[in-house]
Amino acid sequence: MASRLRRLASRFRTNPGAALRDVHRFVEDTLIRRNGRASLRRVNVPREPYDEIAREVMAVRWFHRIPLPDGRVTPGVSNTPRYVRTLHLPDSLAGKTVLDVGAWDGYYAFDAERRGAARVLATDHFCWSGGGWGTRAGFDLAHRLLGSKVEARDIDVYDLSPQTVGTFDVVLFLGVLYHLPEPLTALERVASVTRERLVLETLVDLTFMRQPALTFQRGRSQPPSQYRHWRRDPTTWFVPNEAAVVTMLEHAGFARIERVYPRWSAASRLLHLANATLPLVHVQKDFRMVFHAWK
Ligand SMILES: C[S@@+](CC[C@H](N)C(=O)[O-])C[C@H]1O[C@@H](n2cnc3c(N)ncnc32)[C@H](O)[C@@H]1O
Repeated sequence: MASRLRRLASRFRTNPGAALRDVHRFVEDTLIRRNGRASLRRVNVPREPYDEIAREVMAVRWFHRIPLPDGRVTPGVSNTPRYVRTLHLPDSLAGKTVLDVGAWDGYYAFDAERRGAARVLATDHFCWSGGGWGTRAGFDLAHRLLGSKVEARDIDVYDLSPQTVGTFDVVLFLGVLYHLPEPLTALERVASVTRERLVLETLVDLTFMRQPALTFQRGRSQPPSQYRHWRRDPTTWFVPNEAAVVTMLEHAGFARIERVYPRWSAASRLLHLANATLPLVHVQKDFRMVFHAWK
C-alpha cells in the first residue's frame, strides 16, 4: 500500500491528469465493481503458444474471457467472469429458452447453457460480419472447444422479430444499446422477442440527472469531456441515463423494471457526482448499469 501511494505521489508530480484517472479507476473498481471481485481469474493462456489449442486461441482477437474445459481462459479484453456477477442472472435457467443479442465471443450464451437453458440462440451482426474490432472466430472456436450446443445466427438487432427468430423466455441485451444509432427502435425489436425477462446492460451517462436524457457521442467538434465514451470507442452513439433507460423500456412495453446493478451506496453516488462535476480534468467515466425488465 505504501509503495502504491509513493508511486501515485510521483505520478501526480509528473502527470496530474493521469494520476487523477488512476485514483478514479481504483475507487471505481473498489466501490462500484466489487460485486464481481471474487470471480476475477487470471488470464492463463501463455503468451508463447505451446500446443495446438493454445495456438488456435492465441490466433483470435478475444473480447471475452471464456473458461475452457482444460482450465485455461481466453485472453479477452473484457473481464467477463467479473461482469457476469453484476447481471444477477438466476442461478438456474433450467428449461428456459435464451436469446443473447450481440453475443460476440459468446461468453454469456455459453454461460446460459451452463445454467441449464433448454435452448440458447446467440446472435450478432456488427462484429460477426466483419465490421468490428473482433470477428466471429472466437465464438466458433469456443463453441467447438466447449462442445456447445448454442445456436448461432448473424442477424442485425433491427431485424429481430417473432417471425425471424421466434420468442424467448430470457433475452440478454448486454453492452449493445449504446452502439446503436436508433436505441428506441432496437429496444422495440428486442421487446418483441422477449416472453418473460429482458436483461439489459448498458453504459450510462448523466447519472446525476433525474430527467430522461441521453448524450450524443458523435460530436467531433465538442470538447473531449463531452464525448468521452466516443473517444474510447468510436462505435458508441447514444449513452442514456437511468431515467432514459427506464422510460425507453416502458415505451417498448415492459411493465416492471428493476435496476439490479449497481446497488447504490453513498460512496458510489458521491463518485458519480464527482464525475459530473469534474469534466475539466477529464476523469475517466465508464459507469454501467444492469436492468431486469418483465412484460
Ligand atoms: C460491446 S460488445 C458486447 C458484447 C457482449 N454482449 C458483452 O456484453 O460482452 C457489442 C456487441 O454488439 C454487436 N452489435 C453492434 N451493433 C449491432 C447490430 N446492429 N446488430 C447486432 N449486433 C450488433 C457487436 O458486434 C458486438 O458484438
